Amino acid sequence: MADMISMAIMLHVGAIVLILLLLLLLVRHFSKEMEFKPFSLKYEQLSLYYRATLGILFFTGLVVMAVAKFDVLWTVYIMVLVVLHMIGTSVKENIVYKLTHIKDTVSQETFKAYAKKKYITDIIMIVALTVLAYAVSL
Ligand code: HEM
Repeated sequence: MADMISMAIMLHVGAIVLILLLLLLLVRHFSKEMEFKPFSLKYEQLSLYYRATLGILFFTGLVVMAVAKFDVLWTVYIMVLVVLHMIGTSVKENIVYKLTHIKDTVSQETFKAYAKKKYITDIIMIVALTVLAYAVSL
């Protein structure tokens, strides 16, 4: 049983590392100066990977919960809230992106500013939550 829990937590932590890596790539992409067309092609690819990894993070968290028979620490409720916040801001990011026009630089800047702020907030929340999760389980 303990083996299964630690295996499930390993997958969960793997998903955290992957999503952090994707978030860093997204922040780097948003810091580049480039034309909107090539920018958006790469953005769509990266954000697809990001959303898939967010799903994996949620799924592996649920697996850990199921394997641990829902006998979990209070930090897990914060994890669920953080992931729900990440999903909510991703939906808003998608709406702002859809309102962006190829020839309208103002809408492009609005979108870029929103998305970059969202990714940096995600990184801060994930790092803070990881530190909290390990500090509590020590
Ligand atoms: C940003 C999102 C998340 C982060 C940064 C995160 C981080 C972590 C970390 C670092 C651990 C390992 C703690 C340890 O080894 O003691 C952990 C464990 C766990 N996570 Fe997450 N997690 C996230 C999302 C989720 C979600 C969405 C769920 C559930 C749906 C979840 C459920 C769990 C469970 C059940 C454990 C085991 C906790 C225990 O042993 O009591 N996590 N998480």
